[in-house]
Amino acid sequence: MTDNLLKSWSQVAGTKSAWLLNYDAERYPFSRYLRDQIFRVDDLEKLHLSSLCRPGSPPGYPDNLRLRQMMQRLPLNSDFYTIYTSFVHELVVCYFGGRISYAARPKMRVHLAGSGSVSRWHRDANVTGRLEQINIWLPATNCFAGNTLWVENDYGTECYQPIPVRLGQALFFDGGLLAHGSVSNDTDTSRVSFDLRFSASSTTPSAMTKRLLGERPLASIVAQLCPSLSLSP
Ligand SMILES: [Fe+2]
Repeated sequence: MTDNLLKSWSQVAGTKSAWLLNYDAERYPFSRYLRDQIFRVDDLEKLHLSSLCRPGSPPGYPDNLRLRQMMQRLPLNSDFYTIYTSFVHELVVCYFGGRISYAARPKMRVHLAGSGSVSRWHRDANVTGRLEQINIWLPATNCFAGNTLWVENDYGTECYQPIPVRLGQALFFDGGLLAHGSVSNDTDTSRVSFDLRFSASSTTPSAMTKRLLGERPLASIVAQLCPSLSLSP
């Protein structure tokens, strides 16, 4: 991989094994599609003020869930999945090797301004039982502070920090072992995002794979962080 290609990436300050990819939001118009075709609002970041939410009452988890389902039920032949497939095949494959396996349907998320946490602290490997996967977290809105993803700053510290992710950026991180979750959205900005996991099957790890998975702790520490894995044969 050329140095030029790697310039699209920036390391998240203060957090191990977390990198931001700057992508072309015109070529991969997730935000525009969700705004115009799914929610049909003027501004995704003001979704909490739209007619899709109950007037006069603060948004809560049922609202987040209902709006999220509008995204989750998109058919695989919709334009969203054309954009999604292009993003994975053109960018993720480019940086992580020729063959990858990934989720056909990402997890859709809505975190309305004024609503509580939508995800408790967790390490994905405790749920999936898989250590080789890398997480992608891609917002269709600008994310910061209370509306963004919070990630442990190093393996096992349980010290969480918010990761600012601008529109046109995707966060890649070691969510299998780095604990992550959300807090109450106390900002005035709603968040619409999706996330997925993928694994690269290339026998020679790419430069980005090494960056994201190359700083993991010793196996004995991993076993402590993910007790369900230590039970595996
Ligand atoms: Fe997760």
